[in-house]
Amino acid sequence: MQKTRLKVILWLLLLPLGLIAQQTTLYPNDYLTPEFHAGRRAAIKERLSPNGVGIFFASQVRVRNNDVDYQYAQNKNFYYFTGLEESDALLLLFKKPVTILDKTGTEFIFVKKRDPFKEQWTGKILGAEGVKNRYKIENVFTNDQFTTNTINLSSIDSIFTAYKNEAIFSKYKAVEDPLSRMATIIDNQITALNKPIANRSFSKAISDLRGIKQPEEIALILKAAQISCEGHNDVMKAIRPGMTEYQAQAIMEYNFKKNGSEYPGYPSINGAADNACVLHYTTNLKLIKNGDLLLSDCAAEYHGYTADVTRTIPANGKFSPEQKIIYELVLKAQDAGIEASKAGVPFNGVDAASRRVVYEGLIKLGIAANESEARIYFPHSTSHNLGLDVHDVGPRAQELLKAGVIITVEPGIYISPGSKCDKKWWNIGVRIEDDILITETGNKNLSADSPRSVAEIEKMTKQKSIFNN
Ligand code: GLY
Ligand code: MN
Repeated sequence: MQKTRLKVILWLLLLPLGLIAQQTTLYPNDYLTPEFHAGRRAAIKERLSPNGVGIFFASQVRVRNNDVDYQYAQNKNFYYFTGLEESDALLLLFKKPVTILDKTGTEFIFVKKRDPFKEQWTGKILGAEGVKNRYKIENVFTNDQFTTNTINLSSIDSIFTAYKNEAIFSKYKAVEDPLSRMATIIDNQITALNKPIANRSFSKAISDLRGIKQPEEIALILKAAQISCEGHNDVMKAIRPGMTEYQAQAIMEYNFKKNGSEYPGYPSINGAADNACVLHYTTNLKLIKNGDLLLSDCAAEYHGYTADVTRTIPANGKFSPEQKIIYELVLKAQDAGIEASKAGVPFNGVDAASRRVVYEGLIKLGIAANESEARIYFPHSTSHNLGLDVHDVGPRAQELLKAGVIITVEPGIYISPGSKCDKKWWNIGVRIEDDILITETGNKNLSADSPRSVAEIEKMTKQKSIFNN
């Protein structure tokens, strides 16, 4: 015990040296470039109608409790088209140049004004000057310049937005924030025009763009996946009966932070035994016992892009015969899904390939009598798009996969206690999830750094970890 503590202290002392070795600049400098965002704006402007306006709002700051806010996370569309990670900003895009505040162009952004008093509390912001220098958006103003008198939208005939579910256009807010104020100005102007204005959804156009990842985006998702695999491998090495679900989560997320990930891409799922059968179990409070399987569905977000990786591992380092049978069935289904992940095939072909294997296997094992019973044990779909969002936009079920699309392949089997099958299968919940880039010639597994086979996982659980001895 003392030896372990000494090892951890020594390691913590060496940690700063390790970090210096990894990063030589004061701050990370591997963000998407202004040219990337400019290219995305150019592509979406093409999809506007000649007299349409594309409207993108930054995310709002959300109150956690009293005077404490949630950690800020930018709206992903806004980030994709600007790179800016500040609140209270509005981006307007046009196909044909228009004049706003005496500036003529197709891109106008309104951002937070600098405020030395606020900045002493919460840190420096860029202001109009900083945004202009850093992000190279054509016309930059502060959001207080967006007023009824300065904004004239009389030439437009269509609005393109992707904000159906945002409360931003609500006129009933008790306290007016800058975003709602700007939204209300737009709303009032449109109403006053007294002419038919088309409300056009930008969802499909944005989904087409964001669904095909550019090389810079692939590099960030690969990095997020590699960091995630490091976390999964560390949990495999450290796992033992007597650990808690939250301790497994801590080891995982420690690895994320250690490697510069800003936060997990989604709430970490760490479920042991029956909790592994709850698809999005995030309570993570239970003791992990001898004989339990631990399902960890955890991944890092890196510079806006998230991975999504699941591993299922035995707490005592060895799968029981029943656990091994179910695990290998899920693995076979995953292999079939990965095999089906190719350019030119419909996206839902991936699910069909994995599902066929799971259904046949469950029926053969006598766990399910037929396909509709088998569905109870595999109640989710096999794949989703992955990128800025964990459940990203991109090709829909019937659409064809193309090179540059990134999807997850994540079949699972979940046999809760009380299920209709033999008791020996109860409490087994298995999901295996990897991040698959579709290429011109096939695919590439971006999360291949963490083992999937029974033999490799069992071998990794025997390796040493700094978190135990
Ligand atoms: N990792 C969570 C999900 O795919 O739903
Ligand atoms: Mn997933």
